[in-house]
Amino acid sequence: TRSLQTQASRRQLDTPLAFAFDIDGVLLRGETALPAAKRALAKLEGDNPMNVKIPYILITNGGGMGEEERCRKLTSQLGFDIQSTQYVQSHTVLKSVVRKYAQEDVLVLGGKRDEVRKIAEGYGFQKVYTTLDVMAWNPSVWPFHELSHEEHASTKKVDFSSTPISAVFVFHDPRNWALDVQVLCDVVQSGGVIGGPYLPIEEQLKSGPELVFCNPDLLWRSDFERPRLGQGAFREAFSAVYQSLTGKRYPYVQYGKPTEATYKFAEKVLVDRLEALSGVRPSVSPEVYMVGDNPESDIAGANGAGWSSVLVRTGVYDPEQGPPTHKPTYIAEDVEEAVDWAIKREM
Ligand code: G3P
Ligand code: MG
Repeated sequence: TRSLQTQASRRQLDTPLAFAFDIDGVLLRGETALPAAKRALAKLEGDNPMNVKIPYILITNGGGMGEEERCRKLTSQLGFDIQSTQYVQSHTVLKSVVRKYAQEDVLVLGGKRDEVRKIAEGYGFQKVYTTLDVMAWNPSVWPFHELSHEEHASTKKVDFSSTPISAVFVFHDPRNWALDVQVLCDVVQSGGVIGGPYLPIEEQLKSGPELVFCNPDLLWRSDFERPRLGQGAFREAFSAVYQSLTGKRYPYVQYGKPTEATYKFAEKVLVDRLEALSGVRPSVSPEVYMVGDNPESDIAGANGAGWSSVLVRTGVYDPEQGPPTHKPTYIAEDVEEAVDWAIKREM
């Protein structure tokens, strides 16, 4: 296989070609790699008409696991070496904002037990609490859940009556929506002091704790026949309860595909990856083909970033439901057809 330099020199007058792949519904269904995914990646690893390596990154609204650990798992599932330098998950972008909160008391939601706390601490958050810590502090916060032995073992000893929460980060999909909606309502109505008096609604909305979501997906495709509810559905559940309580929607910051912040972050990861592979920092932005299964996150985001977008039929998008809500450059059966079409178009 000729080196990437060959591709760089071949395209030195043009822009470097690169791919960005969504994961769930494109490369994986649940824990299993789609056969088309392995064939598609083989083509980018050199098995293509020009015999060159074509760089690619993975961008997922998934999360709940450290980047290094997830990449080891993806390497084993996909059969190709996936480096954390080519991987962007829902909460990776928080690495670029952590400085503002490093000394603040923050609540993190999502994932199992204290896995997300460990990820947040790895990013540089120093005072990180979970809703299980809240239950360990006062089980009457939510009378319908009893901490399991493993859950209790994952908790920190905190007195939340004297530990006001400054910000809440929903890193990944909450496992106990009822407990998490209850604690979230306590935090935002009482200026961060769980169990404290409710502040006037104007104060709640103007100066309450910051609320940050990392994945807007209402739906995503796992290995069940129909799409599953994602973190965006949790956000809507919380917002509906808060609106019923107060008549207002609590303001929040949204990261994840299709937000501009995530795509700008991903473009930087991609350019760093191109430089690492070829030893040359591209002088112009790469020609990027994003392959995704969800028009709302993958196609909308790629179109907004000025990338070419390919929608596949192996995930959330169902042609029976009518045309996609965001128009892709091309619609393909699966990720292998998407890669074949893009390479033919570019080479
Ligand atoms: O939780 C993961 C899901 O929301 C979507 O993942 O890889 O299709 O962006 P992905
Ligand atoms: Mg997907």
